[in-house]
Amino acid sequence: QNTQKIIVIPGDGIGPEVTEEAVLTLQALGAGLEFTFLDRINADRYLRDGVALTDGELEEVRTAGTVLFGAVGDPRVTNPDYARGVLLRLRTDLDLYVNYRPAVLLDERLSPLRDESRRGIDCVVVRENTEGLYTGVGGSLRTGTPDEVTVDQETNTHLGVSRIVEYAYGVARRSVCMVDKSNAVRFGGQLWQRVWRETRDRHPELDSSHLYVDVAAMKLVKDPASFDVIVTNNSYGDILSDLTAELAGGLGTAASANINPVTGMGLYEPVHGSAPDIVGKGLANPAGAVLSAALLLRDRGLKSEAEALERAVRRTVAERRCTPDLGGTLNTRQAGEAIRAALD
Ligand code: NAD
Ligand code: IPM
Ligand code: MN
Repeated sequence: QNTQKIIVIPGDGIGPEVTEEAVLTLQALGAGLEFTFLDRINADRYLRDGVALTDGELEEVRTAGTVLFGAVGDPRVTNPDYARGVLLRLRTDLDLYVNYRPAVLLDERLSPLRDESRRGIDCVVVRENTEGLYTGVGGSLRTGTPDEVTVDQETNTHLGVSRIVEYAYGVARRSVCMVDKSNAVRFGGQLWQRVWRETRDRHPELDSSHLYVDVAAMKLVKDPASFDVIVTNNSYGDILSDLTAELAGGLGTAASANINPVTGMGLYEPVHGSAPDIVGKGLANPAGAVLSAALLLRDRGLKSEAEALERAVRRTVAERRCTPDLGGTLNTRQAGEAIRAALD
């Protein structure tokens, strides 16, 4: 069996709770993975030493190439430097330009929609993961005064937009919907439009459409089953992927892969955050972390193992052997054990 090294960054809040279940489940599969825990990367250290992620840790991650990530964020940390210093730094410094966020309805009863015929969401948000409003370009004048002025610039490069739109067309099964706000945003909107039209014309085999982000949010609620791949920028992808997560079963179930398809590096994490409101209560649903581990397996070429994990999650949810957010009565550990028991 091949041994592959995985870096595990549990992080904060429910991050360690759900990541532990994901690791135990990967171990139960016996896929020959080897885990190195970087559990010193957390808000406690940031508050104590002001260190988010060291250069050494970044290099360790770069060498391994694959990360299983929990969540970062703590109510005691109010400035964005911490999350930016850990998660956004990993995404940008490793150039993980695709944030792949699938949403497939886990079980009928979990849809928040009344209309049964439109519940069957099975789509992917392909989120640009290195540019947009997240680059940190900007500044503040007269900070802290009543005359304060702040600017956060949105960066869009031709390279960045082309590679994410091309990736979206490469993974689509039926259609690609490009989402932007080019009716209001002056320059970036035009760049996304131009690149999308050029890419669309090279892929006549797929249906192409465009929606402004406000209408996309509406249409996702009205007719989620009509979407296949949604490609969009960093901010809109962040927002729409929480929406698609809820349509598919709940934020606790949503998985994501932050990847660079050229280098093969990847960071796999649930879409949710550190959930300080439920930390330590056994209420955290491990499904999002486990399904993120399945995405990791898929990218490492372990397709049948990935499918076994996905089947096990589905089965436990269908049988209500899950956490309260999905209508079950199990705690995080028990839900993880149920998934492992359901592995065939
Ligand atoms: P959140 O995703 O942590 O929580 C939103 C709501 O969903 C909460 O009510 C929470 O209890 C619930 N929830 C989330 N995950 C769940 C799970 N696995 N099982 C059951 N319920 C779950 O979002 P937030 O409250 O806005 O953010 C909390 C902290 O997490 C903040 O510091 C934020 O910046 C950070 N955050 C980090 C990541 C990440 O590391 N990728 C993602 C989102 C938010
Ligand atoms: C996510 C999170 C992050 C983001 C935060 C924690 C910076 O919400 O991974 O979706 O906005 O990308
Ligand atoms: Mn988010």
